[in-house]
Amino acid sequence: MEIVFSGIQPSGELHLGNYLGAVRNWVALQDQYRCFYCVVDYHAITQPYEPAEMASRARNMAVDILACGVDPDRATLFVQSEVPEHTELAWVLSSVAPQGELERMTQFKDKAAHNPHNINLGLFAYPVLQAADILLYGATRVPVGEDQRQHLELAREIVRRFNARFGETFAEPMPLFSTTPKILGLDGQAKMSKSLGNTIALREPENVVWDKLRTAATDPARVKRTDPGTPEKCNVYTLHKFFSDAEKQAYVHTGCTTAGIGCIECKKMLFEGVKVDLSRIRARGDALRADPARVDAILARGAAEARQVAGQTMARVRSRLGLHAAKA
Ligand code: TRP
Repeated sequence: MEIVFSGIQPSGELHLGNYLGAVRNWVALQDQYRCFYCVVDYHAITQPYEPAEMASRARNMAVDILACGVDPDRATLFVQSEVPEHTELAWVLSSVAPQGELERMTQFKDKAAHNPHNINLGLFAYPVLQAADILLYGATRVPVGEDQRQHLELAREIVRRFNARFGETFAEPMPLFSTTPKILGLDGQAKMSKSLGNTIALREPENVVWDKLRTAATDPARVKRTDPGTPEKCNVYTLHKFFSDAEKQAYVHTGCTTAGIGCIECKKMLFEGVKVDLSRIRARGDALRADPARVDAILARGAAEARQVAGQTMARVRSRLGLHAAKA
């Protein structure tokens, strides 16, 4: 079975964008692949954060992922900092990672531009830690969004350089891009993201979800109820593609382009589907939150499974490198 690895930052709670763009796909992959899913807290420390909150952010994220349907009996779910091999391999890979390529990473440049007082080596080396994540498990398939394409290219370059210098050790990981359309935030402008405050969190109560949907941006050309709209320009229509059947999608498409229905009616129809999905996720999440020992056990088992594989990889790497530690 081919191996899949993917990671997600411990933002504290999953939102609709994470779910539709990533985690829903993780759930689908767990039957076809040997999957490792990781909450990447060591990546998160490269940006300013509150230490007192980090552990619960990681844990809540894991609970949300489980609530979405990632099944600990079929996939390995763990928190990165419980597997020290990640940082160990990242250091090793940093000795083959080309600095010039790292300097071209657009995500680094963006983060550096947004936070000029926090340009640290970890932020720069972030893609190297990401490569370590993937390579520790021999993953050849990495489900990611378009924004991670460059990081994955770099991981492949790191593999080629490592293998050329130390002998064939790692396979080149291939991206597994989802066909998911980009999920915009409620503003209909930027990608849905917690830091932009334009999200619907999966755990939000139904009335809050409806309030947010009700006021979410639609095609700006539909100013009046009688103005026809262009569904393709409307984020609410994008969401219908996930939550409504073909018949409903066709109905709102026609209704929008002919001004036969208004945005509110369209949103009500969307909400019907959203409610079904979110209530299932909420129910599973509530059950897990009521049983912290179960969550502890799942994460402990995930970390143990991950360490088992990561430990073997690191032993091979130390030996390839000819390190003293490999001489035992
Ligand atoms: N950088 C990824 C993101 O922000 C998260 C991540 C960390 C990741 N390690 C990974 C994704 C390994 C895929 C594989 O989305």
